Amino acid sequence: MQIAIDGPASAGKSTVAKIIAHKLNFTYIDTGAMYRASTWIARENNIDYGNEKGILTAIDHEKIEFKFKNGQQKIYAGNKDITQAIRTPDISANVSQVSALAGIREKMVSLQRQMAGKMDVVMDGRDIGTTVLPNAAVKIFLVASVHSRAERRMLDFKERGIKTNQSLEEIEHDISERDYKDSHRKISPLKKAQDAIEIDTTSMSVDQVVNAILSEIKKSQKKL
Ligand code: CDP
Ligand code: CDP
Repeated sequence: MQIAIDGPASAGKSTVAKIIAHKLNFTYIDTGAMYRASTWIARENNIDYGNEKGILTAIDHEKIEFKFKNGQQKIYAGNKDITQAIRTPDISANVSQVSALAGIREKMVSLQRQMAGKMDVVMDGRDIGTTVLPNAAVKIFLVASVHSRAERRMLDFKERGIKTNQSLEEIEHDISERDYKDSHRKISPLKKAQDAIEIDTTSMSVDQVVNAILSEIKKSQKKL
């Protein structure tokens, strides 16, 4: 079974996707982490963020992989754990340029489909419902006001122990800019799939969002 959760930055996709995967005993796949890892690999190797061939070659050398350590999902580039390193504002500021490259998208989408072919998944991202898993059993599109998403991101930095000097206004600006780039790129832009259910989480708690999605999953199972 495949559950697709898409939406703009900091809408709560990964938080709720992880909880739902845990409750259903499915595997959670954070596709954004794969584009962030590609961006991290480019930066580490001093490769221009627009150099598709260069980044693809570097990714072939330092494979991007998810691994489980003590029940926690970690992302690796080669044998380096980069779970924390890919969350910095610098990576966030450049990831949209890397994720717009056709060759990078092709490679990531193929890896994502391979994973979804092997197990039940909850996958979150931007193009899961539209492109990666067009036949997903349930498609959710999470939205929230940009202000509340910036507040959530700020809190998230604190919780993850990521140090930043960014003000709330700067975070809000960065998020809006990234959403714009992600929604306006040529290949599989951020877009609600026609058959996706939109949930505005601005004034919802995490629990409320999780329950709303679980009830959509139940409804879809009844239809089977
Ligand atoms: O967690 P946050 O919402 O900040 O972003 P993310 O899910 O980690 O995704 C980081 C970036 O990867 C996005 O801004 C997109 O540029 C790209 N991305 C994408 O193009 N397609 C996906 N399926 C997932 C992420
Ligand atoms: O994956 P995405 O970038 O969409 O968001 P996230 O990384 O899950 O971050 C969302 C943050 O907002 C987390 O710190 C959540 O605890 C918080 N939050 C949420 O996800 N959903 C709500 N309804 C309320 C708060």
